[in-house]
Amino acid sequence: MRIDGVDKRSIWAASGGETVEIIDQTKLPFDFVTRRLSTCDDAAEAIRVMRVRGAPLIGVTAAYGLAMALREDPSDTALAAAYDTLFATRPTAINLRWALDRARDHLMPLAPADRFDAAYALAGRMADEDVEINRMIGVHGLEIIKSRAAQSGQVNILTHCNAGWLATVDWGTATSPMYQAHDAGIDVHVWVDETRPRNQGAFLTALELGWHGVPHHIITDNAGGHLMQHGRVDMCMVGTDRVTASGDVCNKIGTYLKALAAHDNDVPFYVCLPTPTIDWRVSDGVSEIPIEERDPDEVLSLDGLLPDGEIVRTRIAARGSPAANPAFDVTPARLVTGLITERGVIDANAASLDQLKNAMVG
Ligand code: MRU
Repeated sequence: MRIDGVDKRSIWAASGGETVEIIDQTKLPFDFVTRRLSTCDDAAEAIRVMRVRGAPLIGVTAAYGLAMALREDPSDTALAAAYDTLFATRPTAINLRWALDRARDHLMPLAPADRFDAAYALAGRMADEDVEINRMIGVHGLEIIKSRAAQSGQVNILTHCNAGWLATVDWGTATSPMYQAHDAGIDVHVWVDETRPRNQGAFLTALELGWHGVPHHIITDNAGGHLMQHGRVDMCMVGTDRVTASGDVCNKIGTYLKALAAHDNDVPFYVCLPTPTIDWRVSDGVSEIPIEERDPDEVLSLDGLLPDGEIVRTRIAARGSPAANPAFDVTPARLVTGLITERGVIDANAASLDQLKNAMVG
């Protein structure tokens, strides 16, 4: 992503080659603040409180966190402890486990003295791979947008949460096709669900679409069904935190309702994902994926900007009422038109995913 003419990623190796820097996403969209993560605990805290968030970025941050733990103590015991600390940060995005397993399997056979350098280099490779994976998701998604543009001119895409470059290392998953379509001169317009309670749509997706110059409108989370009924949405494109081996899709809370509305209105519903987001061990998303329950205060209050520039947290609900805050939901495979991966677009069903798995092994 270019911001003010400068190429940026959401995470990058700090000068000195031992730590890492991030954009503190809890401060966006009002302040652009970077932050250095120097220890495993820094990385775990950043994931837990969502200074970094989005499935692919969580994975890469965890890989750097593991490396930083090994700089202090490269023993087997320290590696296992760092794995556990990082794994406990957030339960739903499978990319966290994927990245930690990959790092542990790579590092365990090495002599402890070699582990830090190898871990840091591996985290860097994972970051680079994520960028290329997301670029390819965009290449495949672009074809879908192109064929719609050939029929209707302007293409109106509804997205939920932030599956943008801020949720990955660069490009984003759901936003990659949008950026590539816009860059190719296609008239793309994006409906951005605000995505309560943390407003990742209104705060992050809108911010980055604006940086890139993609026309968009922020809408309330309840507006999508109405827009679909009136023919104002040509397709939905969302990201995901975990896709099961049968094609069920877990994503930010509210995604399921959009998929239901899309199904009822014959609007294609696409899910964009890097293959590390597939959890080959689970099949039924509703019963098998752990859904993160977050602090009820996220529902009861909201950060906002006062006219004098001060950022304040304001209570927005009746005093004394409790809240519940499930952070993700599962969209059954039958509601998904297609899974857009770096390897191409496949159907959301067990047979297609099995074929993909075999192609990846082969
Ligand atoms: O709670 P968050 O902000 O980490 O949730 C993010 C999402 O749900 C994204 O849609 C998902 O991680 C895909 S990111 C490419």
